[in-house]
Amino acid sequence: MNFTNLLIDVADGVALVTINRPAALNALNIDVLKDLTDAFSSLQKNDSVACVILTGSGAKAFVAGADIAAMQPLNAVEAAHFARLGHALMSLIESCPKPVIAAVNGFALGGGCELAMACDMRIAAENARFGQPEVNLGVIPGFGGTLRLSRLIGKGRAKELIFTGDMVSAQEAFRIGLANKVVASEDLLAEAHSMAAKIAAKGPVAVRFAKEAIDSGLEMDLDRAGRFEADLFGLCFATEDQKEGMQAFLDKRQAKFTGR
Ligand code: CAA
Repeated sequence: MNFTNLLIDVADGVALVTINRPAALNALNIDVLKDLTDAFSSLQKNDSVACVILTGSGAKAFVAGADIAAMQPLNAVEAAHFARLGHALMSLIESCPKPVIAAVNGFALGGGCELAMACDMRIAAENARFGQPEVNLGVIPGFGGTLRLSRLIGKGRAKELIFTGDMVSAQEAFRIGLANKVVASEDLLAEAHSMAAKIAAKGPVAVRFAKEAIDSGLEMDLDRAGRFEADLFGLCFATEDQKEGMQAFLDKRQAKFTGR
């Protein structure tokens, strides 16, 4: 896989996707959105990938937002099209059958915060800064920020961040549930790889079903969500991994999962 704006490295079941536009703090223009869409479409079908890590190149930014220079001249129809491309990418990442970890190395602003929130987990370097500063530019979040921030940290806090455009530190992001953990900047990728390796060693079907149960379940009432979880639990028993996982426990040995 060769992309103008991305670096992709696959090893030991983990794909590291690096957005590589450091001169513009990895800002998302149409080309970056398309590259990411193509990359995730391909990675989700790649059987040698169990987990994906998404990060930004350079020490300063994960992604400093949608590309302001590219957006400035857009008319309303073009802007809506741009936002729809962004939404489609966020949904693709969110529904990726493999877990996606955002390794947030600096600014995650606007579309960058939205991209991090579409990932399953966010590990923040201590220099990370999160925010939805769109109101400073006379617009609102356009890649799902109003939806995902309120679901992640609650309506009141989401409104405060979106209405004020304030940035929060990595520690504050951790405190309010926007970041899963904060690590020293130099340890960020090692920590993301360690989490990814732990996940990659589990039964991939079980991990995928767990992701589906959590994400879809949150959008259902409790009764339906409960039935959905019970059905997926049942479906696990149609896999070789369930037989192996439980037999390995009974044999007091490590399970060897195959994803079947
Ligand atoms: N779009 C385009 N270019 C950007 C950018 C963005 N979102 N963010 C930074 N850049 C560019 C700068 O223009 C600059 O380019 P030049 O060197 O060619 O001038 C380069 O990246 C470095 O940026 P700064 O010189 O500004 O770096 P800094 O350290 O002084 O400030 C910053 C860093 C606070 C992140 C600042 O760059 C900034 O505020 N960026 C914009 C953040 C923002 O508003 N993001 C939201 C965008 S709107 C959006 O995302 C809508 C949506 O929801 C879809």
